[in-house]
Amino acid sequence: VQAAPTASNAEQAWIKLQQQVAECRACGLCETRTQTVFGVGSHHASWMLIGEAPGQNEDLQGEPFVGKAGQLLNEMLRAIGLAREEVFIANVLKCRPPANRDPQAAEVAACHDFLRQQIALMQPKIILAVGRIAAQNLLNTQQPLAKLRGRLHSLENIPLVVVHHPAYLLRALTEKAKAWDDLQFALSVYQ
Ligand code: URA
Repeated sequence: VQAAPTASNAEQAWIKLQQQVAECRACGLCETRTQTVFGVGSHHASWMLIGEAPGQNEDLQGEPFVGKAGQLLNEMLRAIGLAREEVFIANVLKCRPPANRDPQAAEVAACHDFLRQQIALMQPKIILAVGRIAAQNLLNTQQPLAKLRGRLHSLENIPLVVVHHPAYLLRALTEKAKAWDDLQFALSVYQ
């Protein structure tokens, strides 16, 4: 009798990580979340996008970037020839902060190891930090987005580029050209 195929160690580690995230009670957000939001897409992807935290729709659906901002994010990806399914999308926080307030330092610290493990298992070729809050937390800086975009950074030895958050672009349509520049810059780093 042929043994059932077993998942590789890396696949098993990914599944284990998903379970750990789903059960996490490391910070107070576990009391108010509907569910954790691990991330979506292929964990074999070259591109990893990291946003801030789940919002209301994401908390209800268990998937990052599913609201209006998510639709614009999909368009931004399409503009550089990528389908949503071809990338992996996660957030700095796996749980929604109440009323979408900014993540607190203790919450980011409690959640950081999950993101670190996701990056280590995926080994993406490029990371896009989506928006100011994600960028500042990932790069451990208070610098404004204007100073962070258009430059090459790195996270866990992987090139990182900062892009405008689609929710911001929905409010500030005149900034869309900058978002386009950011995406072109990201493409120049990895294609
Ligand atoms: N904004 C984010 O930063 N992440 C989401 O998942 C949704 C909106």
